[in-house]
Parts: sequence; C-alpha cells; structure tokens
Amino acid sequence: MYDLFLLRFLTLFFYSGTDIPMVKTLYFSKNGLYVLEQRLLPGTTTYVRCATHKDVYRAIKDMSVRGAPAIGVAAAYGVALAAGEKHFRTAAQAKVFLLSAISFLSSSRPTAVNLFWALKRMGTVLEKEYASPVLLQKALLKEAHAVYAEDIRINRAMGEYGARLIKKGSGILTHCNAGALATAGYGTALGVIRSAHRQGKVKRVYVDETRPYLQGARLTAWEMAQEKIPHVLITDNMAGHFMKTGVIDAVIVGADRVAANGDTANKIGTYSLAVLAKYHRIPLFVAAPTSTIDRDTPTGSHIVIEERSTEEVVYIGKKCIAPAGTKALHPAFDVTPAKLISAIITEHGIVRPVNARTIAAVKLQKR
Ligand code: MRU
Repeated sequence: MYDLFLLRFLTLFFYSGTDIPMVKTLYFSKNGLYVLEQRLLPGTTTYVRCATHKDVYRAIKDMSVRGAPAIGVAAAYGVALAAGEKHFRTAAQAKVFLLSAISFLSSSRPTAVNLFWALKRMGTVLEKEYASPVLLQKALLKEAHAVYAEDIRINRAMGEYGARLIKKGSGILTHCNAGALATAGYGTALGVIRSAHRQGKVKRVYVDETRPYLQGARLTAWEMAQEKIPHVLITDNMAGHFMKTGVIDAVIVGADRVAANGDTANKIGTYSLAVLAKYHRIPLFVAAPTSTIDRDTPTGSHIVIEERSTEEVVYIGKKCIAPAGTKALHPAFDVTPAKLISAIITEHGIVRPVNARTIAAVKLQKR
C-alpha cells in the first residue's frame, strides 16, 4: 500500500553534525520504509509509507524521494521489502522473485547511477547460499541498513575534505538540492557547505531556485533555514549577474553520474553554471560519493538523460503558467564536461584535475 502517514509531531531526527537536529529523509521500521514526501516540502512534513517494492518504485519515480544517494538507499530497502512480500518455500524461490523486483526498481529513474549501484550491491547478497527465505531476508535488510549508514558517514567525510577548498568569507552558489534530503543524511554539496559553515568560512549561500522542479527554492532553502546558514534565494537566470558582480567565490553542486572521463551529469542548469563559472574564473566543485562514479560509462555523451513531463514545466504547484496546450521540453539533467570542473570531492579526498586518468585512480566504494 502506498499511503500517506502524517507525522503531527516531528520526532524523527538525525543530528546534522551541528547542534541542530535535521528531519530524516527516510527510515525503516517493521511496518515498511517511510520516505519524507519531498513534493510537499516546505509546507508540510509528511511521510509516505512504502510497504512493498512497488511502493518504493512509485516513491522514486514520482519524486517523493529524490537525489541520487537517497534514491539508491530507498531502492536497497525496496529489495529488502520484496523479500517479505510473499510466502516463499525456499530461498531459491525467493531469489527468482527478488531478481524481478531488482529489475523493476532499476526502471524507476535512468540517470542517477547510485540507483543501479545500490541494486547491484543488493544483487550480490542474493549470490550467497541461504538455508531459508527468512535468512535471506535478514541478510538483505542488513545490507540495506549498511548502505544507509555508510551514506551518512561518507557525506560527513566529503564535508570535511570539501571544506578545505573553501576560503574564509566565501559566497557559495549551489544548484538543485544536494543536501540531507538528497541523501540518507548530511548531504553532498550541502554537506560541504555545512562543514565549511561550521568552520566559519561561509559568508552567504546563493540558492538557485532550480526550475522547473524548484529543488533549490523548496528544499535547499528549507535546509539552510533549519540550520541558520545565511542564504539567499536567486532565480536561475541571476547566476551570471552575481558572478559578474563578484559575490560568488565558489560553485558547489552534487552529481547523478560521473563518467569514466570525469564528465558529470547533474540537475539541468548545472552545465550553464559551469560555463559561466569558467568565464568568471570561479571554481566549480562537484561533491559526489564514489558510488556516483560509473566507469562503465566512458563519457558524458553515453549518459542517459531522463526526460520528464511537460506538466512539471508548465505548472508551478497547481497553477498553469503557460497557455493551455503548450508543450514543454524537460530534460531533468545535463552533462558538464570534465574540463569545466575544478575538482570532484569524494569521501576519499579531492580529485583534481578531473580527467580519465584521475578518475581511474579513485578507490571505489563497495559494489
Ligand atoms: O531530480 P532530482 O531532484 O533527483 O535531482 C537531484 C540532483 O540533480 C542532485 O544534484 C544530485 O542527485 C546529487 S544529490 C546529492
């Protein structure tokens, strides 16, 4: 059942590394996986209960849960849920069903490689022998919990490495939401900003609203406000102006997939920012766990870019902003060439310069 579960009192927090508790992006309980309904933020804090892997598929596809690492974590739990969906007589029988669940979950969104990475990891659990379906289910849940816990630990490590790149008194521009909400917690690009802010280095964060889905306006501004990190919202087309006027010292974004040559897919609009940043000699940093590196994709032109609906462009909330019948294009991501990226911040350190050789040298997370 895919249903809404309203939490009237927010009791589900994790600590962001400051003294400020952050609401959880998702959590697992005996009743299923609960994902924070991000489509309703910032107005309403509601959790969606996913009782089956098909519920998890829907939550990912409809973007109740979004952001590359968070999608991966949710999918891992989806596989664990699938193991309890039917009465299996043997572990072998369960495996057949679980392989089809993995295949189904992998069709939810195409661009963020963390989804495929997490599902591959869950698939590896299936390769071992189990005396019973219950033992297999336990092993899957243990692995999903590990993916969740590792994500938070990795984000904190990226935060520490990334903060070293930030000079005191910096104005930082960020795009989309690569924060706690896009991960199991703490965030990638926003994790770097959190750590740099804790070190007193952040003067102000410039939050791109991020048309059409407004992840910046709705989610990043919300996260920044929760932690009292000084920030200001700008529309996407203001970025060049603020770079020119000298208030932006660095651009930090997340990633959905880093190809073997360092080309990086991220939220639509990132490429334009990278071109602007290059012109203005402002560094553009990508914060990405090594699970976002995909060495099987040779270059950015091989990355599948998700096409989303016209409705998400012509509507803002419930309001249609274009003449009835207007068709819109909606690539959800674009690709930034490696040569426009100053460095990639990973949990193992800084990759710089970004090219096929340096990407090949990165130690990858368990898969
Ligand atoms: O369509 P979304 O909201 O899932 O896109 C999210 C992004 O593009 C993020 O920048 C990326 O996943 C990195 S999140 C740590």
